[in-house]
Amino acid sequence: MKKTVAIIGFGYVGKVLANFFRDHFTVLVYDPYLEAIPEQNTHPNVSLTKDKEEINKVDLAVVSVPTPMADDASVDLSLIEETINWLSTPLILIKSTVPPGTVKNLVEKTGKNIAFSPEYVGESSYVTQWWKDKGYADPHDMKHHDFQIFGGKKESKNNLLSW
Ligand SMILES: NC(=O)c1ccc[n+]([C@@H]2O[C@H](COP(=O)([O-])OP(=O)(O)OC[C@H]3O[C@@H](n4cnc5c(N)ncnc54)[C@H](O)[C@@H]3O)[C@@H](O)[C@H]2O)c1
Repeated sequence: MKKTVAIIGFGYVGKVLANFFRDHFTVLVYDPYLEAIPEQNTHPNVSLTKDKEEINKVDLAVVSVPTPMADDASVDLSLIEETINWLSTPLILIKSTVPPGTVKNLVEKTGKNIAFSPEYVGESSYVTQWWKDKGYADPHDMKHHDFQIFGGKKESKNNLLSW
């Protein structure tokens, strides 16, 4: 049976993530502001649910909710905290941009198995020429990235690398 992945937050990064996982995994999307998967992102392996219990049955939850700047110029982590609080999947991967120390604090607070991986897909206007020179077709497509960076506890990272 295919492993299951949930994408929490189906914006720019969430769509890239679904595209990355959908060929080999069953992908469930959770985004309270979405009524349907947009036509251009539909795929037989991708479906939308508003049911958190259904999300919590997946093997891996990948978090790509917004982390906007707060009024005092710090990073507003409220959506990350809210999401981590209700998630109970065996493994959680944060792809949202968060300040150093965030995952450590969340793991200490919740005891959950959380890893982090920075996403560079939006930086591609800077690297586009380099990317094209390598012969890659679309720098916005994670499948063409030839590296991924993971942080977090050793067990969480190893767990991800074994996927
Ligand atoms: N856009 C980029 O190029 C880029 C690149 C790297 C990292 N990031 C980071 O990734 C994160 C997401 O960025 P984005 O550009 O995809 O944002 P976005 O605004 O395009 O998408 C965020 C999505 O999350 C949904 N959402 C809001 N609250 C939610 C909740 N409580 N639960 C579930 N879904 C919720 C929204 O409806 C929206 O669809 C941010 O932390 C951002 O800094 C963005």
